[in-house]
Amino acid sequence: MKRMTACLLVIAAITVFTYCSSTKKASAPPTVAKVNYQANVMSIVQANCTPCHFPDKGGRKKALDSYAAVSAQIDEILRRIQLNPTDRGFMPDRKPKLAEADIKAFVQWKADGLAEK
Ligand code: HEC
Repeated sequence: MKRMTACLLVIAAITVFTYCSSTKKASAPPTVAKVNYQANVMSIVQANCTPCHFPDKGGRKKALDSYAAVSAQIDEILRRIQLNPTDRGFMPDRKPKLAEADIKAFVQWKADGLAEK
């Protein structure tokens, strides 16, 4: 009889453990890397917004050469890069529209909280 009780206890313990660990797995958030300035945004700005927005390259427009500058102007940047190239205020000025993936990177960066790195 003692043996059976022990057996039942083990089964119960296994059941509880399995249940707990499986619900834990199901509720864990997916580990998707967040978009950040240094890894995702900086290179797009450097490739598409030079020289105009880089004072050290001779640009005379408002600087977009640092995390602080780009994050402070994110709303205006988002508005302008999503315009049609023929619209007034479109950026990058005198260049083709950014690739869809690059525009998405800016949008997602804002949605993810504008992290620097
Ligand atoms: C060929 C030069 C050139 C390039 C390249 C360029 N811009 Fe500009 N940008 C300008 C000029 C000129 C203005 C000012 C005229 C205006 O407001 O439309 C300006 C203005 C802006 C402003 C408004 C700043 C303010 O003074 O409030 C933002 C934001 C901006 N650009 C973002 C960008 C972004 C983001 C890129 C790259 C994806 C980019 N620009 C690429 C020339 C450029």
